[in-house]
Parts: sequence; C-alpha cells; structure tokens
Amino acid sequence: MAPPVNPPRPQPPQPRVVKPSQPFSICRFIAISLLTLLIVVGIVVLIIWLVLKPHKMVYSIENSSIHDYNLTNNNHLSGNFNFTLRAYNPNKRISIYYDHIDVKLFFNSQPIAFSNIEPFYQRRRNVTHINVSLPTNDVALYGDIARDFKTQRSGGNVEVEVKIRAKIRFKVGAWKSSHRKLKILCTPTVNYSDSRKNYKSFPCDADV
Ligand SMILES: *[C@@H]1O[C@H](CO)[C@@H](O)[C@H](O)[C@H]1NC(C)=O
Ligand SMILES: *[C@@H]1O[C@H](CO)[C@@H](O)[C@H](O)[C@H]1NC(C)=O
Ligand SMILES: *[C@@H]1O[C@H](CO)[C@@H](O)[C@H](O)[C@H]1NC(C)=O
Ligand SMILES: *[C@@H]1O[C@H](CO)[C@@H](O)[C@H](O)[C@H]1NC(C)=O
Ligand SMILES: *[C@@H]1O[C@H](CO)[C@@H](O)[C@H](O)[C@H]1NC(C)=O
Ligand SMILES: *[C@@H]1O[C@H](CO)[C@@H](O)[C@H](O)[C@H]1NC(C)=O
Repeated sequence: MAPPVNPPRPQPPQPRVVKPSQPFSICRFIAISLLTLLIVVGIVVLIIWLVLKPHKMVYSIENSSIHDYNLTNNNHLSGNFNFTLRAYNPNKRISIYYDHIDVKLFFNSQPIAFSNIEPFYQRRRNVTHINVSLPTNDVALYGDIARDFKTQRSGGNVEVEVKIRAKIRFKVGAWKSSHRKLKILCTPTVNYSDSRKNYKSFPCDADV
C-alpha cells in the first residue's frame, strides 16, 4: 500500500516547469497578436488611402461686387456685397455633403455682414458656383477702420475678408463620414464704384 503512495511525489515539479513558461507564451502571444493587428490595420489604411487618393477641395471667389453702397458721415456702412463662390471637388471617389454653411464678411477684422448658404451635395469631380449675397445694413465702423475704408475706396477698390465655416460629410460609395468642420478664408478685392464686378479669381485657403 505504501509504495503506490510514493510515485506521485515526483509529479509536483512538473507543474512548476510548466507554470513559468505559461506567462511567457501568453505575453508572446499578445505581443505577436498586437503586432499582427497593427500591420493589418496599417495595410488596410494604406489600401484605402491608395484607392481613394484624397485631394484637397479647391475654393475661390469670383465676381465680387458691392451695390447700394453708402458710408454716412458718422461712419455707418450700408450696402450689398455679392460674390460667386467657386467650389471644386477634385476627388474621383469622394463626394461631399455641405450640411451647414455660414459666411461672414470682415473689413480690417471688423465683422460687417453675415449670411448662410443653402446646404448642397457635391458630386465627385464637380465644380459648383454659388452666388453669395452679404447685406450690410447701417453697421457702425470704428474710427480707424472707417478711415481705412475711405482710403481704400478712393483707391478704387476695397479688400475684404470672407470667412466660411461649414459642416461637411464625406461620402464614399454607400459609406458616409461623421461631420467635420471646414474653414475657408478668402481675401477678395471688391471694386466699389459703379456696381462693377471684379472678375478676377481670388483663391481661398481651406482647412478640414
Ligand atoms: C462669374 O465669373 C465667371 C468667370 O470667372 C463667369 O463665368 C460667370 O458668368 C460669372 N457669374 C456672374 C453671375 O457674373
Ligand atoms: C447715405 O445715407 C445718408 C443717411 O441715411 C443719406 O443722407 C445719404 O443720402 C445716403 N447717400 C446715398 C448716396 O445714398
Ligand atoms: C456640379 O453639380 C451641380 C449640381 O449637381 C450641377 O448642376 C453642375 O452641372 C455640376 N457641374 C459639373 C462641372 O459637373
Ligand atoms: C448667379 O447670379 C447670376 C446673376 O447675377 C446668374 O446669372 C447665375 O445663374 C447665378 N448662379 C447661380 C449658381 O445661381
Ligand atoms: C446681389 O445678390 C442679390 C441676392 O442674391 C441679388 O438679388 C442681386 O440681384 C445681386 N446683384 C447683382 C448686381 O448681381
Ligand atoms: C476692379 O479692380 C481691379 C484691381 O484694381 C482692376 O484690375 C479691374 O479692372 C477692376 N474692374 C473693373 C470692372 O473696374
């Protein structure tokens, strides 16, 4: 009876040999899995990038003009600033939803008019022209700014800043991205006199 009890005694060392190797192999398994995952994700991102070949959208302002302009003796400005915004989506596979578009007009950093543009959907490789009208009604200009405005006006044209803030979504096939903020900044020159149009195209800076 006693001898059969003794043989199991050498067994305990066996689990001890297995135990230290187990944490090691789990660590290695996790490390290899993470590395594989990273490589796979990297390759997928690279493939998506290569297939989509994203290009920046291009914006510019044309046909800037001002109508019914009046700057009173006490520096109150009224008038209608009209522009054509040219939006170009050069992408072959990405189309764009413009869901919410705000336009603000500044002169020397002072806001003088604001407006918004109807939401629209822009297809791939499309150029869209949008007429923007920014009415200024009896806006009090600060002393220095009014003086600057008069100086530029007597020079024949006025340089303004157009700031556009838009919420956009990208569409690729049936997939739509979440909302992103788009910022566009343009500094067109407006011919102030005779309601003439400045047909020159002014490129804008865009930031998504
Ligand atoms: C705006 O300018 C473009 C060319 O720059 C011209 O083709 C277009 O007819 C103009 N639009 C208006 C409303 O004047
Ligand atoms: C500009 O506005 C002032 C004050 O409203 C008015 O007296 C003046 O006639 C206006 N000038 C023009 C050219 O409309
Ligand atoms: C761009 O899309 C608009 C609206 O779908 C369309 O009216 C216009 O003709 C298109 N322009 C070009 C150059 O494809
Ligand atoms: C912009 O306005 C001009 C007239 O000022 C018009 O001929 C042109 O069709 C308009 N363009 C758009 C896209 O509404
Ligand atoms: C300026 O824009 C407004 C609103 O779109 C329009 O009613 C007006 O005719 C435009 N003026 C010119 C000269 O294009
Ligand atoms: C508007 O102003 C620009 C820059 O001074 C000038 O080159 C252009 O001829 C002017 N356009 C008109 C219609 O007067």
